[in-house]
Amino acid sequence: MRTLVRDILKSESEVGDILAQGWVRTRRDSKAFSFIELNDGSCLANVQVIADATIPGYEESVLKIQTGASVSIKGKLVASSGGKQKWEIHATEVEVLGHSHDDFPLQKKGHSMEFLRSIAHLRPRANLFGAVFRVRSRMAYAIHQFFQERDFIYVHTPIITASDCEGAGEMFRVTTLNGEQISAGKDEEDFFGKKTYLTVSGQLEGETFACALSNIYTFGPTFRAENSHTSRHASEFWMIEPEIAFCDLDADMQLAEDLVQYLVSDALEHCAEDLAFFGKFVDKGLFERLEFVKSRAFERVSYTEAVEILEKSGKKFEFPVKYGHNLQSEHERFLTEEHFKCPVTVYNYPKEIKPFYMRLNDDDKTVAAMDLLVPGIGEIVGGSQREERLDLLKANMAKHDLNEEDYSWYVDLRKYGTVPHAGFGLGFERLLMFVTGVANIRDVIPFPRVPGSAEF
Ligand code: 4AD
Ligand code: MG
Repeated sequence: MRTLVRDILKSESEVGDILAQGWVRTRRDSKAFSFIELNDGSCLANVQVIADATIPGYEESVLKIQTGASVSIKGKLVASSGGKQKWEIHATEVEVLGHSHDDFPLQKKGHSMEFLRSIAHLRPRANLFGAVFRVRSRMAYAIHQFFQERDFIYVHTPIITASDCEGAGEMFRVTTLNGEQISAGKDEEDFFGKKTYLTVSGQLEGETFACALSNIYTFGPTFRAENSHTSRHASEFWMIEPEIAFCDLDADMQLAEDLVQYLVSDALEHCAEDLAFFGKFVDKGLFERLEFVKSRAFERVSYTEAVEILEKSGKKFEFPVKYGHNLQSEHERFLTEEHFKCPVTVYNYPKEIKPFYMRLNDDDKTVAAMDLLVPGIGEIVGGSQREERLDLLKANMAKHDLNEEDYSWYVDLRKYGTVPHAGFGLGFERLLMFVTGVANIRDVIPFPRVPGSAEF
């Protein structure tokens, strides 16, 4: 039976017969034997294999192994005499399963991210990406754990939808009509009998379920056709969206802060080896930041106060700060990196700059919205308390030029047993950027889709 490298390296004792399989990182030969560095992706580290020149077929198999080849190795696990590791494998049999051609592009030296991005089939074999995607997997697990421990119900909201949740019109259309039919506006002849899109958020559908099952969450892909060429925007990204009935903005903010803290703690506990790699090669301040975030209460500040802080900062921003305008990423980063020096939740934004579903505050000027900002990135969570009052929701929809008929199913929630409720969306990739220190969103997505690029 095959043993994964991560288990081999954690072994408590020497093992008589062991089968290891993986891809060769390097081979070095001396007179009497060869050293093979074997990696199988189960952890960052390689296991060292020593293949004695006397093993059967040494010249035809071992001496032909090139970087990237896949091999199957039988041998004994013995305590390593020198080296960094406790264990090494003394091979008794080496079988090459797949040779690697001379033009194998991953060499021992480091490669630029741009280069690695361009070779999809080999990218996950680079140390950095292996580490990123192991952390990604663990964080997905931890997210389910967080919500399941708190009795939230996981709801699968649709990927194809007819509604524009954020009202920003940044949606990819899904259609089987041809160009002519589209120009002629024959939407009723389309596959679903109307215009449909890839979802930008599962929130509206999530609310429907929260207003029946109380505490729910969604976790799935979302799509935005916004032409943003930044290191923090992707056209396809994953979002975690809890929705909680009988809940106000305070409890909503608390849940978002708890979630981020929980995920940081979980990563520190379960992804130590990979995080150490990021701390060394990607972001020297990573551990300090994560340890800090894990142990400290986050700051909270109202939008109005945040604008005052920014105005008084004396800092020259590219985009001027003005009450009633959206905070730009440079403003968000100033607040969290320079002013508070810690994650900060900004709440109660002017109603004019927020979507139709947010709850109007008693001041009649602001809505119960919140954005959680973290150093290095800015916004990773956006959420709000929802407008549960029928008349106010309808008025707000009219202001946003929404067709009430299209959203009647959503409005109905306010007609039949409406409740105060709230929720938020955590951008999964932004969370991963925060936890790993990786600076570009493309490098934390297995197959990134951004404007102008949908490779592989
Ligand atoms: O702030 P947003 O647009 O909020 C919503 O979609 C709400 N419907 C969520 C809710 O209340 N249920 O997006 C939420 C988060 C952002 O804070 C950000 O982390 C991430 O989603 N996000 C993106 N991540 C990557 N690429 C993009 N283009 C993103 N747009 C938003
Ligand atoms: Mg937002």
